[in-house]
Amino acid sequence: MTRRIITAIDVGTTKIATIVANAKSEDSIEILGVGLAPSHGLHKGIVVNMENAKASIAESVREAEQISGTRIDSACVGVTGRHISSVNNKGVVTIPHSDRMVRAKDLKRVLSAARSITIPDGKKILHAIPRGYTLDGLDRVNQPVGMHGARLDAETHVIVASIASVQNLAKCVRSLGIDIDDMVLEPLASGEAVLTPQERETGVIMADIGGGTTDIAVFKGGSIYHTAILPVAGYQLTSDISIGLGLPFNVAEAMKKKYGNVTPGLDFETAEVEMGIENGHSGSYRDLCTIVRSRIEELLELVLLEMPVSDYASLAPCGLVLTGGSSNMAGLDALGQSKIDIPVRIGRPLNANIYGITDILHDAAYATTVGLILWQTRNNGTSAWQEKNRAGIFSTFAGLIKRIFR
Ligand SMILES: Nc1ncnc2c1ncn2[C@@H]1O[C@H](COP(=O)(O)OP(=O)(O)OP(=O)(O)O)[C@@H](O)[C@H]1O
Ligand SMILES: [Mg+2]
Repeated sequence: MTRRIITAIDVGTTKIATIVANAKSEDSIEILGVGLAPSHGLHKGIVVNMENAKASIAESVREAEQISGTRIDSACVGVTGRHISSVNNKGVVTIPHSDRMVRAKDLKRVLSAARSITIPDGKKILHAIPRGYTLDGLDRVNQPVGMHGARLDAETHVIVASIASVQNLAKCVRSLGIDIDDMVLEPLASGEAVLTPQERETGVIMADIGGGTTDIAVFKGGSIYHTAILPVAGYQLTSDISIGLGLPFNVAEAMKKKYGNVTPGLDFETAEVEMGIENGHSGSYRDLCTIVRSRIEELLELVLLEMPVSDYASLAPCGLVLTGGSSNMAGLDALGQSKIDIPVRIGRPLNANIYGITDILHDAAYATTVGLILWQTRNNGTSAWQEKNRAGIFSTFAGLIKRIFR
């Protein structure tokens, strides 16, 4: 069996998670090592302090290397943040050959037309993902090459990101002597990990509620249809508890995780939950749950406001899949279900094709990390961000030196 070592680094706002895996095939992935480190130097998904971010990434990478007994030379890295925007764009070409058969170069031409959008200064295309082709009016054509027709249309989902934000993140990783295999938008990765092929085909909304951002992806017709990043997530919940109950942030965070419950109709009087003392502080259970509930209701509304159409029931008949660390909040699926008239479920990165160190597969906080591994086995090198090629011989040499020191 072939041995192909792949690595994912999920640079989150609260944690840096690294997975080293041996991908024998798309259906047989062994997790060899996981590294986890608290994240410093990030704000709402973006690097704001390079030195702190580098140190956190290094700690996570070192742990994954130790556990797996493997040296990490290159990795696939997740990208998120408010600077991301996306659009579905169409391109059209005529098929010039006398036999009217679509060739590979025609496909290339139509894809290049479908990805040509006006890009604001300081931004660059992160992904241009083909959504489907239409040949002489016949839509839902998957593989046009070899088919006959006079006119070929293509639609792509184009995702644009801030050059500076992506470069800062890439620089942190490369400074550790690690090449970038691919830079992948985080909700695309999470979608790989928590959604079924049926959900993506029929239509589904996924929201990864992390620490700093809520990353949204809508899939329809088997491909990505819409993406958006909201700069609101678990951090704001904790911050509101901290202010509302007059607690230090770390106490509010611990209490949120331990006691937070958003189950609709929860009777605070009979729930008989006594909030224990954390670091000498306590507070009202009712107040804590009321704060998180109203914040999460707002967040769910914001997710739906991001939808490109108001009729989200026909956009996403398979409903809303919530994932990310904050989806561990007790009662979240029931609350979602009571607020929204489409099915709501919590998505965890459980996967029958992945084995080895699998504890993390039960925790929704690792949807992006596991998804980055799956992305590499399914769509390797499809991102438009060619950091690796630009690295050149000098940075390869510098990387080697850094690796030796690491
Ligand atoms: N049981 C729980 N109940 C409520 N919130 C939780 C629970 N467990 C974890 N969280 C929250 O999950 C958040 C972290 O989630 P996650 O690990 O997905 O974020 P991240 O990947 O570091 O950040 P981001 O993706 O936003 O950059 C934290 O805000 C944390 O408080
Ligand atoms: Mg995350």
